Amino acid sequence: MPYQSQIRFLLNGRDVVLQDVKATQTLLDFLRIDRNLTGTKEGCAEGDCGACTVLVGRLHDGALRYETVNACIRFLASLNGCHIVTVEHLAGPEGRLHPVQQAMVEYHGSQCGFCTPGFVMSLYALWMGNPTPTAVQVETALQGNLCRCTGYEPIIKAALAVNSYGTPANDYLNKERATSTDRLVSIQQQGRIETGPEDDRAILPADLNDLAEVLSHNPKATIVAGATDVGLWVTKFLRPISPVVFINHLQQLKTIVRSDTDLTIGAGVTYSEAEPALRTAFPHLGEYWDRIAGWQVRNMGTIGGNIANGSPIGDTPPALISLRAEVTLQKVGGTRTVPLEEFFIDYGKQDREQGDFVASIRIPRPEPGQIDAAYKVSKRRDEDISSVAVGISVTVNDGKIADARIAYGGMAATPKRADRAEASLIGKPWSFATFEAAAAEVRNDFKSLSDWRASAEYRAAVAGNLLLRFFYEHDASTDQPARLAIA
Ligand code: FAD
Ligand code: FES
Ligand code: FES
Repeated sequence: MPYQSQIRFLLNGRDVVLQDVKATQTLLDFLRIDRNLTGTKEGCAEGDCGACTVLVGRLHDGALRYETVNACIRFLASLNGCHIVTVEHLAGPEGRLHPVQQAMVEYHGSQCGFCTPGFVMSLYALWMGNPTPTAVQVETALQGNLCRCTGYEPIIKAALAVNSYGTPANDYLNKERATSTDRLVSIQQQGRIETGPEDDRAILPADLNDLAEVLSHNPKATIVAGATDVGLWVTKFLRPISPVVFINHLQQLKTIVRSDTDLTIGAGVTYSEAEPALRTAFPHLGEYWDRIAGWQVRNMGTIGGNIANGSPIGDTPPALISLRAEVTLQKVGGTRTVPLEEFFIDYGKQDREQGDFVASIRIPRPEPGQIDAAYKVSKRRDEDISSVAVGISVTVNDGKIADARIAYGGMAATPKRADRAEASLIGKPWSFATFEAAAAEVRNDFKSLSDWRASAEYRAAVAGNLLLRFFYEHDASTDQPARLAIA
C-alpha cells in the first residue's frame, strides 16, 4: 500500500511537519531538546510524577477535546493530527499570568517550582472542563502530579480559586477552538503513514483492515495504544521495539456500543473515555476506576492495552472477568471471541494467534439479583499498582446465592477466578457464616505470590477479607456503615 511519511501536528500556535520521526522519540525529548520548550519538566520519565504534563487536543467526531498527558512516555509519532499545548502557551498578552498561574501565586502553591508547570497544566485542563470543582474533584485531577516540597493544601486552595481570576469563556484556547478545529481538520492525512529509520520504524495504519494487514506482514511488530506500558519499556529498559504499529488514532477502535443486553467497548477506548458509560452501566466501577493510575495515564491508557499486556496485576481483568466479559480478537480473515478469563493462559502468555489484535471487549449487563463489586488494595491510595484486586459478582435469589464469580489479580501468574471460594458460596444462604467460609477457601484457591509489593501471607489475608467486606457492604440487615463516605 502506498503511504505518507510525514507527521503533522500543531504545537502551541504553530504548524509542525516532520519527516523521519523515530518510533521511540518521546514528545518530551522533542519539546525540550528539539524545540527548547523547557517549561515542561522531566522528573521520573515513567508517567508517575506529572512534571511533564502537557495538553493534547484531538478531534472526536469533529469536536476538539483537550486532555492532559505525560509527555515523557508519549511517542511523538502517535500525535499526528493533534494539537500539543505546553505551559509556554498559557502566557497572556504582555506575558500576563494565566488565571491558573495567578491562583498558584496568590495561594503560595509553588516553592522550588519544579513540579509547578505540570500542576498548572493539570489544573488548566480541570478548569476548562469544570471551572468550579469540589475539593475531591481537584484531588482526582491531581492524582498524577507529585509535589515534594510545597504540600498539597495550598495547591488545592489555588485550584478552588482559579475561577476568580478569569473564566474559561475568555480563555485563549477556548476562544481559538473553532480556528484550531479547522486547522486540525486541514492537517488530517488519508491512508497509512510510515516514518522513521528501519530500526526504529513507526507505522500508523489507515484503518482496521489496514492494521490487520500491517500485522500480518509484521508479526513481530509492537502494537502501541496509549503507550503507558510500552513507553516505560523504552524510557526505562531501552528496549528496541521496532517496528511500532500505533493504533490510538483509529476511530474504529474507539467506539462504545450500548445495547439492552451489553456494553461493547473498543480496545482503543481510554480509561477516561470509557468512564461515563461504565459508571452508568456498572455503578460499582466508578470509584474503582478513579483508583487506576492518575488522570494523565487514564487519558492515555486503554482497556485493550490493559488486557493485551497480560499482566497479573492489571486492574481491569478481575473486574471484567467477574462481569462475564468477552474479548474479541481480529486479524486478516476474521474475528473470534473468547471469554476474558480464557484469554490469560499463563504468565506472559495470552490466547493470541499471529497477527491478532484485541478489537473490543463485551460486558453483559447485570441480571436481576446480581450484586457486583470491585476492590483494589495498594500501598498508596492513588497512582499505584495493585497488591491485590478483586471483582466479585454474586447473584442472590430468595436469600440464597444462585451464582458467584470471583476473580483476583495479584494472586497468581494471571488474573484468575477463585473456583473453590465460588463453589463454597453457591447454593448457600446469604449470611456472614457463608462468606466467612468462602474467605477461608480463598487460601486453597491460590498459592499467593510474595514480592516487594506484598507478602504471600498479606495477600492471602487481604483476599479473604475482601469477601467479608463485600458481605458487610451489601448486607441489608445491618445499618452499620462498612466504609467511610467520601464527600
Ligand atoms: P500500551 O502501553 O500501548 O500497550 C500495552 C501492551 O498491550 C503492549 O504489549 C501492546 O503491544 C499491547 N496492546 C495494546 N493495545 C493492543 C491491542 N488493541 N491489541 C493487541 N495488543 C495491544 N495499570 C493498572 O492496571 N492499574 C493502575 O493503577 C496502573 N497505574 C499506572 C500508573 C502509571 C504511572 C503507569 C505509567 C501505568 C500504570 N498502569 C496501571 C499500567 C497501564 O496504564 C495499563 O496497563 C494500560 O491499560 C495500558 O494500556 P495502553 O493503551 O497504554 O497500552
Ligand atoms: Fe514524571 Fe513524565 S517525567 S510523569
Ligand atoms: Fe518543589 Fe513541588 S514546588 S516539588
